[in-house]
Amino acid sequence: MLLKSIAEALNKQVQMEAESSQAYLAMASWADIQPGLEGVAAFFYEQSDEERQHMLKLLTFINERGGFGVVPALEQPILTFTSLKSCFNEFLKHELKVSDSINDIVHLALAEKDYATHNFLQWYVTEQMEEERLARTLNEKLELIGEDKSGLYLFDRDISAYRGAGAKKK
Ligand code: FEO
Repeated sequence: MLLKSIAEALNKQVQMEAESSQAYLAMASWADIQPGLEGVAAFFYEQSDEERQHMLKLLTFINERGGFGVVPALEQPILTFTSLKSCFNEFLKHELKVSDSINDIVHLALAEKDYATHNFLQWYVTEQMEEERLARTLNEKLELIGEDKSGLYLFDRDISAYRGAGAKKK
């Protein structure tokens, strides 16, 4: 049976993963209507789907352990971006926030001697290392490219390969 404090922390994380899914869906939709950013749009549509899976995994874990996984109300995410760089900067900022939040729950699980939750969260710890690395890599690439149009063309064409290089695991 989950402690109330752990159930609440996990449900807060459900909300954060759902917000991530919404935020990346908005990035996908924004990229979709920019000329020539089909690759970036596909990247964020897929990223949004992944975040929904992260949310579901938490929600079902809470229920399996005798808690109640709460489907959260969500605020509208940022819908438009001034540049590709600012969009990917938001992506990195968001992932750093998620990592901090996961680390806080890992800490709480240990403090409460909830080793099952602690063990469950290790998947998220690994996932966050990969997501942060991916977001950092893409920001660094954009920094290098600057305003160079052929560089941006190649970035959009190759973005799915960067995800592959992250060795994503489910
Ligand atoms: Fe599930 Fe990227 O946080």
